[in-house]
Amino acid sequence: MTVTTSAPHPPLPTTTDADRAVQLLDRSRALVRPALAEAVGRLHPWVGEMAAYSFGWCEVSGAPAAPGTAAGGKGLRQALAVLGAKAAGAPAGAGMSAAVAVELVHTFSLLHDDIMDGDATRRGRPTVWKAYGTGPAVLAGDALFALAVETLASAPGSDIPSAVRHLSTALNDLVSGQADDLLFESRPWTGPEAVGPDEYRAMAENKTGALLGCAAALGAVLAGAPATTVTALDRAGRHLGVAFQVIDDLLGIWGDPAVTGKPVHADLRRRKKTFPVLAALDTPAAARPLARLLEGAEELDDATARRAAALIEEAGGRSAALAEAHRHIAHVHACLDSLPTASHAADDLRALLAFLVRREM
Ligand code: IPE
Ligand code: MG
Ligand code: MG
Repeated sequence: MTVTTSAPHPPLPTTTDADRAVQLLDRSRALVRPALAEAVGRLHPWVGEMAAYSFGWCEVSGAPAAPGTAAGGKGLRQALAVLGAKAAGAPAGAGMSAAVAVELVHTFSLLHDDIMDGDATRRGRPTVWKAYGTGPAVLAGDALFALAVETLASAPGSDIPSAVRHLSTALNDLVSGQADDLLFESRPWTGPEAVGPDEYRAMAENKTGALLGCAAALGAVLAGAPATTVTALDRAGRHLGVAFQVIDDLLGIWGDPAVTGKPVHADLRRRKKTFPVLAALDTPAAARPLARLLEGAEELDDATARRAAALIEEAGGRSAALAEAHRHIAHVHACLDSLPTASHAADDLRALLAFLVRREM
């Protein structure tokens, strides 16, 4: 596996960058929330409650969530949509509709993903299928998807058909990424049938990058921005997605459950083909003992998962994953630099990026 370990690392963010990024995330969440709540309010009440629960707005009982709850996530996609639209010079209304649509699609994909992955917790709370049942969670996901399309179809914008097409393409890519992710689970760890790094990158770009690219570009598409602007924003989001997925993989092995909201070693215990594992397997000395630990079908026990995590780290899987994430972040910056006009919003996007990467690592 060829992993660049000497990728030029972007400069670490200053406190000002971090403050600015937190403000940007807070501001776009506050900006988008009323429109998102209005859309969710149009759903069947029971389905709407499941949606509100997954946004972190309420508890399973329907009672309002405790103030300050972080259960709704950072709101990265909506911030990307708002800033991407601004960077393209699109009207604020286009950015807002794009933000609502991608946030709805993201939540829909998580509801269904948690069922596929059999995950019982997300952001420190029971997942929707655990709390409400699998059938209801499928239904709530479907409803959010329909609501996203409806939002976009009735958005203010000069090119609604292209925007709907852009979102559908991103969703098709997301489905391809999910399909590969699931199929990778039954592929061998070593030998000619083993998952290669390029296959992993394609899977991650589809699974995570497609929707981030869509978020960044959708406002621009809606407003009929030039193709170069749309492509630069979409590619920026796609590279961010690969970086993000690799970081998610790192957190799935070494993340603090108190921060990730997921059980420790969750991905390892499920024998997921994550980037740090694939990179470690590429080290001849580690490949055989690591593959031996990971072979089998049952969940790994805690002691074996701990041993595997140590082996992966010794074999350089952790640092290779960090380098891979940095490489994609460098691409994101190059895409933003290629935007036809320099703008404050593009600087905001850079600040947000630097903060996210630093924070997750
Ligand atoms: C989720 O992928 C991505 C989509 C919903 C398409 P993962 O399964 O890798 O992510 P987490 O760890 O559940 O968030
Ligand atoms: Mg999952
Ligand atoms: Mg998954």
